Amino acid sequence: MQKLIINGGKRLHGELSLQGSKNSALPVMAAALLCEDTVELTNCPVLTDVYSASRILNHLGCQCSFSGSRAVISAGSVTKTEIPEELMREMRSSIMFMGAMLGRTGECTVSIPGGCELGPRPIDMHLAAMRKMGIDIRESMGRIICHAPSGRAKGARISLAFPSVGATENILLCAVTAEGDTVINNAAREPEICDLCGFLRSCGAEIKGDGESRIVIKGKNKLHGCTYRIMPDRIAGATYLSMTAAAGGEMILTNACVQEMEPFISVLEQTGCSISAKGDTIYLRSGARLRSVKERIRTMPHPGFPTDAQAVLMAALTKADGTSIFEENIFDCRYRHSEALIKMGADIQVLGKVAVVKGVPSLHGAACEATDLRGGAAMVCAALAAEGRSVITKISHIDRGYEKIEEAVRTLGGDIVRV
Ligand code: UD1
Repeated sequence: MQKLIINGGKRLHGELSLQGSKNSALPVMAAALLCEDTVELTNCPVLTDVYSASRILNHLGCQCSFSGSRAVISAGSVTKTEIPEELMREMRSSIMFMGAMLGRTGECTVSIPGGCELGPRPIDMHLAAMRKMGIDIRESMGRIICHAPSGRAKGARISLAFPSVGATENILLCAVTAEGDTVINNAAREPEICDLCGFLRSCGAEIKGDGESRIVIKGKNKLHGCTYRIMPDRIAGATYLSMTAAAGGEMILTNACVQEMEPFISVLEQTGCSISAKGDTIYLRSGARLRSVKERIRTMPHPGFPTDAQAVLMAALTKADGTSIFEENIFDCRYRHSEALIKMGADIQVLGKVAVVKGVPSLHGAACEATDLRGGAAMVCAALAAEGRSVITKISHIDRGYEKIEEAVRTLGGDIVRV
């Protein structure tokens, strides 16, 4: 079992090129199933979740090869329609293969996906939407068996009860090759949805309205291959900015998606950090001591404050001057990192969906276990800001979403090793 050893208390300073987006690469890899010709992805992050997606593609009969951040996927022949439970359990995004398989073959057998434990993560909206698109779904012994009686899904008008990112993506994947038009009302507006639609359009799909609440998709018989650049990872970007804010210092983040990161940056600015952006580059310089954020930080669907950036910002605010209040509105159980931060000396009280963070003058190193992907990243942020040595275990959670986190942190001058 690998671990990260961090000697904190040093200011960070340096320039870092942002990795490609995990939450965009995964649905795009599932979407490659819809194309009979080869798909080439650039800026694809090198992550364990990306390898999990490639294992699913290989299992289904496709070929995937990687060379640095370039991925080539050939889905010329799809030989299976069933995804084994152990592959489904590796990550939440495995459920994206349901929409993609239905779009490609009109049938699939999947099971409840795995992923970070952030409280209950049902897939009821995904299933209801597929049923609305004419898919027959049976559940038996934990398996979800789906098929389109006519061999092809049918376009439908779907209104989501909540703008779920995954459900919106699954509907898109099923709808682009469905018979007729599909309308998604109350669709998620996350930038990764737009990236998926950008990819699908490059493959010949007809989609309008992505980035807005109402998306309209005109079903096509077939999609073709393309070369596509995955967008930068706004959450990894938020993480590295939070690290520098937490430890103090200055950094330049290149290859960033500035506009997509605005909901995060506008809150981070309230801590007194000086942040400016030009083109795809963000420059951050921290003040002497961070200020607390006066307004309640409410996680909301995009363009609200992203739930995925809640933990890393909380880590930075543990040392701020004053009290900050978080309200987690997306997931029921997303404060599991707070215990590790408390172990490092933070003063955090969690009451249901609210967390009250009273800034303390200093943190100290501690041994802790990563609880989930972003929670683990928050522990790295806090450890860099803490005096002394921290040891973080269960870092497989972190490796799911951060490309060589220790190398990125060392680029910023942080003292971190993986052993
Ligand atoms: C995606 C992101 C994740 C991010 C989240 C919210 C990926 C791979 N993951 O997750 O990093 O934190 O969006 O921005 O892109 N829900 C239901 N029923 C459903 C579907 C969702 O009740 O059928 C609930 C969930 O339990 C959760 C909320 O809706 O409380 C939001 O979930 P959703 O937007 O679907 O998140 P994911 O797609 O799982």
